[in-house]
Amino acid sequence: MRIGVVGTGYVGLVSGTCFAEFGDDVTCLDTDITKIERLRKGDIPIYEPGLEDLVAKQVKAGRLSFTTDIKEALDGADAVFIAVGTPPKKDGGAEDGHADLKYVYQAARDIAQNIKKYTVIVTKSTVPVGTAREVEKIIRETNPDAEFDVCSNPEFLREGAAINDFMHPDRVVVGTESPRAQKLMKRLYRPLYINQTPIVFVAPETSELIKYASNAFLATKITFINEIADLCEKTGANVQDVARAMGMDGRIGSKFLHAGPGYGGSCFPKDTLALAQTGQKLGAPQTIVEQVVQVNAQRQKEMAQRIIDACGGDITGQTIGILGVAFKPNTDDVRDAPSLVVIPALQEAGAHIIAHDPEAMEEAAKHVSNVTWTDDPYAVTLDVDCLVIMTEWNEFRALQLDRIKKSMKTPILVDLRNIYNLEEMKDHGFRYVSIGRPLIDNLKASLSSVESVA
Ligand code: UDX
Repeated sequence: MRIGVVGTGYVGLVSGTCFAEFGDDVTCLDTDITKIERLRKGDIPIYEPGLEDLVAKQVKAGRLSFTTDIKEALDGADAVFIAVGTPPKKDGGAEDGHADLKYVYQAARDIAQNIKKYTVIVTKSTVPVGTAREVEKIIRETNPDAEFDVCSNPEFLREGAAINDFMHPDRVVVGTESPRAQKLMKRLYRPLYINQTPIVFVAPETSELIKYASNAFLATKITFINEIADLCEKTGANVQDVARAMGMDGRIGSKFLHAGPGYGGSCFPKDTLALAQTGQKLGAPQTIVEQVVQVNAQRQKEMAQRIIDACGGDITGQTIGILGVAFKPNTDDVRDAPSLVVIPALQEAGAHIIAHDPEAMEEAAKHVSNVTWTDDPYAVTLDVDCLVIMTEWNEFRALQLDRIKKSMKTPILVDLRNIYNLEEMKDHGFRYVSIGRPLIDNLKASLSSVESVA
């Protein structure tokens, strides 16, 4: 099939490239000429494992191209995906939670003016309930003669696993009441369909709400285990064991039960806020989601105090090493990352920060200042008073602990992602603070052994 994709951000570029992998002929459109020129040179503006190779393969096969010309993108297209940004609206400066749909609506107008044959317009971006209907209205008004249908087709892609999630989704959700559009979408997703992937056909509003409800539920699940972790710390229980045993219940499931510093990213924070606002606006308050938003924001702030407490309560003049600043591993994305809250708070408390992240340092440096950045994770441990593991990159899972201990001024390790085993930490002489698990404190023994040697 012939596909147009409007928007070459995270969702548009991954979706367009994967449709090309299915064998479709795809043209990705963006208004940003710099981005399009980079893509034409095979330079991918986002870090997503496997994407660069997949784009190159599709471009070489002549199935994927990039343009700033909407006519070219829509030329002969059977379906056009709207995959533009829907950032939180900034009325009067503060984010009020509503998604800003100006890019979606502009795309709808541009598409309407260039439709030449029956076309299915697909809202792929995460959009508030009712947007597909609004897009239909805009296209109808802009071009009354256009022959088209609009459908909602939300994505469930995780950053860092987007290609896998596109190729092996748990389900494809399509919101439309048009049998003709249903038929076309079934044809489009046939490569998945033959892999037994269920395609769920629902009304547009239902499709849009499925996306928000799914993300909000996942954010709620994470926040739930984060609060249980706090209770574990008060009772001496181990949150990893609690989560493991909970997850054995098929009704709960083991995924998204890893306690940590609070969720971040470009989706959970934005989507929970938008859902809470929608509930308020329509008189069906989502009180649990409202709580989740509050608790998560507070948790990110609390993480800085946890580090300060681990260092004895005063970090004035101290140096703290941070491993990982991305909101999760395998991405360079720092949007709403806990690191962007924790680092300024530690600096505020008088500490100097040295940090390393395999991919996200450039992005993070746009948001936090006066940080010493280094490409070497071990340089982060040199003469530091405390080392913090903020993001669970694989590179940090097997650090040489004895080497680190010798390198640090005081062997205090705060592991906000529980990547190290408690038993293992007992043998290395750290004060080891983690999330929802008992404290391992060998600091005194460790320091006295250093004094005795001295
Ligand atoms: C999420 C949804 O998973 C995806 O389906 C949707 O399309 C987009 O939003 P993403 O934000 O890329 O994907 O990352 P995800 O892996 O879901 O992690 C989100 C946040 O939750 C991260 O900050 C992560 O560190 C945190 N998290 C995740 C936890 O703290 N604990 C967990 O067990 C899982």
